[in-house]
Amino acid sequence: MIEEKIKWNEKYKTFTPKAPSILLDHIPSAKNKKALDLAGGLGTNAEALLNKGYDVTLIDISNVAISKIKNPKIKTICLDLDNYIIPQNEYDVIIIIKYFNLDLLKQIPKALKKGGYFAFEKIPKYKLTTEEFFEIFKDFETIFFTKEPFRFVGKIF
Ligand SMILES: C[S@@+](CC[C@H](N)C(=O)[O-])C[C@H]1O[C@@H](n2cnc3c(N)ncnc32)[C@H](O)[C@@H]1O
Repeated sequence: MIEEKIKWNEKYKTFTPKAPSILLDHIPSAKNKKALDLAGGLGTNAEALLNKGYDVTLIDISNVAISKIKNPKIKTICLDLDNYIIPQNEYDVIIIIKYFNLDLLKQIPKALKKGGYFAFEKIPKYKLTTEEFFEIFKDFETIFFTKEPFRFVGKIF
């Protein structure tokens, strides 16, 4: 959505990176495995996954945010996630931190490889019940969950 791109590009002119999400503490280190950071912004979480040994791809709509990611090991893709189809059975880890898109969430179980991890933090203004969420993630072992803030880390069976 072009409005989102303009809004986020404006914000990222002055944003400074924050600490990585605490949810990443629940994701094990691994070599030669693939991680995807959806709506990854300035790449703080992507960098943390890189430090855990993953090959990391970050997607975000903001070219300003992406231009500020200086680590060439992070693969970056600038696109609108509104109509994005995640490749199936492709990733060992997927994270979505502080971004909400129901269609994208529904794709996660098929996008992960068996035994893969998903970390999610929802922005409060978007409504999704715990029941709706766990219906999508019914094939996951819950590793970490809090309702407020809505945070989840799970591992697919
Ligand atoms: C609150 S920030 C979170 C960034 C990062 N995940 C973090 O935790 O630091 C939301 C991010 O979503 C991105 N975004 C918003 N709408 C998007 C869209 N339609 N497609 C891709 N990225 C989008 C923004 O550019 C921004 O980086």
